Amino acid sequence: MSDISPRDKNAPRDIDTPAIVKREANVDIPNSKKLFIKTYGCQMNVYDSERMADVLAPVGYAAVDTPDEADLVVLNTCHIREKAAEKVYSELGRIRKMKEAKAGRGEGDMTVAVAGCVAQAEGEEIMRRAPVVDMVLGPQTYHKLPEMIARVSRAQGEVLETDFDTQEKFDELPTTRDPKGFSAFLTVQEGCDKFCTFCVVPYTRGAEVSRPVEQIVAEARDLAKKGVREITLIGQNVNAYHADAPDGSGKTWGLGALIRHVAKIGGIDRIRFTTSHPRDMDEDLIKTLGDEEKLMPYFHLPIQAGSDKILRAMNRGHSYAEYRDLIGRIREARPDIALSGDFIVGFPGETDLDFEQTLKCVDEIVYGSSFSFKYSVRPGTPGAGLPRQVPEDVKSERLKILQDRLYAQQFAFNQSLVGKTLPVLVEGTGREDGQLFGRSPYLQGTHFMGAENLIGQIVPVQITSAGKNSLIGDLA
Ligand code: 5AD
Ligand code: SF4
Repeated sequence: MSDISPRDKNAPRDIDTPAIVKREANVDIPNSKKLFIKTYGCQMNVYDSERMADVLAPVGYAAVDTPDEADLVVLNTCHIREKAAEKVYSELGRIRKMKEAKAGRGEGDMTVAVAGCVAQAEGEEIMRRAPVVDMVLGPQTYHKLPEMIARVSRAQGEVLETDFDTQEKFDELPTTRDPKGFSAFLTVQEGCDKFCTFCVVPYTRGAEVSRPVEQIVAEARDLAKKGVREITLIGQNVNAYHADAPDGSGKTWGLGALIRHVAKIGGIDRIRFTTSHPRDMDEDLIKTLGDEEKLMPYFHLPIQAGSDKILRAMNRGHSYAEYRDLIGRIREARPDIALSGDFIVGFPGETDLDFEQTLKCVDEIVYGSSFSFKYSVRPGTPGAGLPRQVPEDVKSERLKILQDRLYAQQFAFNQSLVGKTLPVLVEGTGREDGQLFGRSPYLQGTHFMGAENLIGQIVPVQITSAGKNSLIGDLA
């Protein structure tokens, strides 16, 4: 699983940059109520927020940009690191003031819901610490939102739903969507059975569950019909995907077969998938990376640390040499691929020597982009109880050294694209007059001058300059 970076809604994004799901007011719905959703964390949460908006639209909720006048405020939260979880409580303090002000203006009640992984992990505590909260709902319960709102409005008190039936959620959520642009996330798998010793996900999202092929294809077709050109198949362990083949043959499909199937849908020109685990990379998926032209040449494969001792303590289930060999095979299959990774510094027991192994890994693998974090103790995970926790100042020092190296690689990779012509999916206008903004195959934001009728198209752009996070070019 991975967070999403500020540079892009498709790539892992930093949790500090909440994404806001917006929807134009729907004039067809009488008595329409205002919905504000604030999203923290990973791409799964971005997807879930869109799905919450989808299930609430038929019962009269239209999304707005700010919470002040909202009838329903949903915070879709992230529990991955301590800071992420703490933000929820400070946001709830602000929401409480807005709720009081709204009532003071005689504009009626504001229902406040906390969703996502903090809700799953700390439901009861949220209710206790923040009485402003009317509803707490875990990630597998969003299909029940309308019913829960009805329960709250019938003044039945607070509502807490933290069931763990992922399959039921998949079956209940509609496969029709209201996409926001030309690139969309599509959940194919949820949950994690890997139990890395630092991570809360197996506890907050539950066991690995794959969605049936038919549901995924129906949703992808609906997105294509509505103009979406690029789909990112997402899951906490997306390459653990396995489901019955839709032809009734009794065979099981992995992610490779699913990708090849989705690639046949007319209108879908680009496919991505994230986040993968090294242990679940099979030959079929590597071959698909090599053969499937619609798959973008950008691949996120976290390693977390370069030292075998730390990888073992993290319960990652592979050594550094196995990861390096895997990357070798992926590069053989798809030589133009750019790699991205996740790293954690300061896991308990990490010595200077262990950290140097992480630096050696970065030097050997060479990443086009990356996400790196200081280890954050998560209560209830095995890592929290380990001896030899690393002091905060050592973690900070190591993170700085690691990031300097990773960012230098990212900048060098972007520079290597100068002079090349890349296909760019145009997502909208840029900041300057006449400027367009889109995504390269490697996910960098790309700016160039062009007419607005190109929005939604994939156009060739010759890259003229490159920074650490973005590219500038000319329409070729
Ligand atoms: N502390 C720091 N980083 C973490 N991640 C997951 N759990 C923790 C933690 N306790 C990072 C991993 C993962 C990414 C989504 O977040 O690198 O791949
Ligand atoms: Fe967390 Fe590890 Fe599962 Fe990824 S594979 S979600 S890091 S437990």
